[in-house]
Amino acid sequence: MRVGVLTGGGDCPGLNAVIRSVVRKGVQEYAWTFTGFRDGWSGVLNDLTVPLDVAAVRGILPLGGTILGSSRTNPLRAEDGVDRVRGTLSAHAIDALVVIGGEDTLGVANALSDEGVRLIGIPKTIDNDVGGTDYTFGFDTAVNIATEAIDRLHTTAESHRRTLVVEVMGRHSGWIALHAGVAGGANAILIPEREFDLDQVCVWVENRFRINYAPIVVVAEGAVPLAGQMVVKDESRDEFGHVRLSGIGDWLAQEIESRTGKDARTTVLGHIQRGGTPSAYDRWLATRFGLHAVAGIKDGAFGTMVALRSTDIVRVPLADAVRAPKRVSTELYEEFGVFFGS
Ligand code: F6P
Repeated sequence: MRVGVLTGGGDCPGLNAVIRSVVRKGVQEYAWTFTGFRDGWSGVLNDLTVPLDVAAVRGILPLGGTILGSSRTNPLRAEDGVDRVRGTLSAHAIDALVVIGGEDTLGVANALSDEGVRLIGIPKTIDNDVGGTDYTFGFDTAVNIATEAIDRLHTTAESHRRTLVVEVMGRHSGWIALHAGVAGGANAILIPEREFDLDQVCVWVENRFRINYAPIVVVAEGAVPLAGQMVVKDESRDEFGHVRLSGIGDWLAQEIESRTGKDARTTVLGHIQRGGTPSAYDRWLATRFGLHAVAGIKDGAFGTMVALRSTDIVRVPLADAVRAPKRVSTELYEEFGVFFGS
């Protein structure tokens, strides 16, 4: 059996761990051979490959990034995209593909699976917004990085008695903001799933000053003010139609400063959240996903995605996983209301 592997979309910590796991199990248990496709779907579309054997995956477990490279290329938008994908797969005699990606990459996988391409998906993203799975790998590392940043920002905020706004990634979901905000003891957490009221945020900020502490406001890059427009840097879109987020943090700090009359600053964590060594948990989860993806191929479970449910790895139909992004529920968000403004 010859198996192709690709990593698509924004990179995240744990991608190398999953590649290693897939290759080690496939080679050692079943004597399969592997072909790596370079830069996500771009490699399949343009026939760009990377050698992938046990030697190639030695030592990569703790490494951030992906040895295969990644891109946001959408083969469904390319002329004759599906035929070109088929052509590359047949030129390399690929029997099955392991597609490691977030909602966009897996959305393409689902469409290709409907066209008869034999593949299995593995969910990755720091955003944790893929449906059908409790967690994606990459998320835990991002939350740890953001939490450490918030811890550090508390001390400098206190020294200057100023508001510090921390903008975190997550696209249109608030998982990173909520987890890191709670773990870091933020005094306000603003997520895309719930439009925020600027007046309320300023009340929380003033309350925090009133008890003689400096406020930390964690805002997800996709958070939106009530009856307002999303604050974005520019309107350019990627091949999946997504605008580039970021900008809400600066906007918020300016508004807070002008409304409260007290100094406010912003820290935008950006791609720091995606880089560097994966946490132990992400290595563990990525490794398990990889092992189960190989088992899925062995069983012929094509068109599925491996997923975490509680502590079990299960298979879910790709179509179910990509139907809608997983969002933070109102109930979960409201659990933490007691910490806001105090
Ligand atoms: O999906 C992961 C993510 O990091 C989002 O949180 C963020 O909005 C986006 O990717 C940034 O994309 P890029 O790497 O293209 O700037």
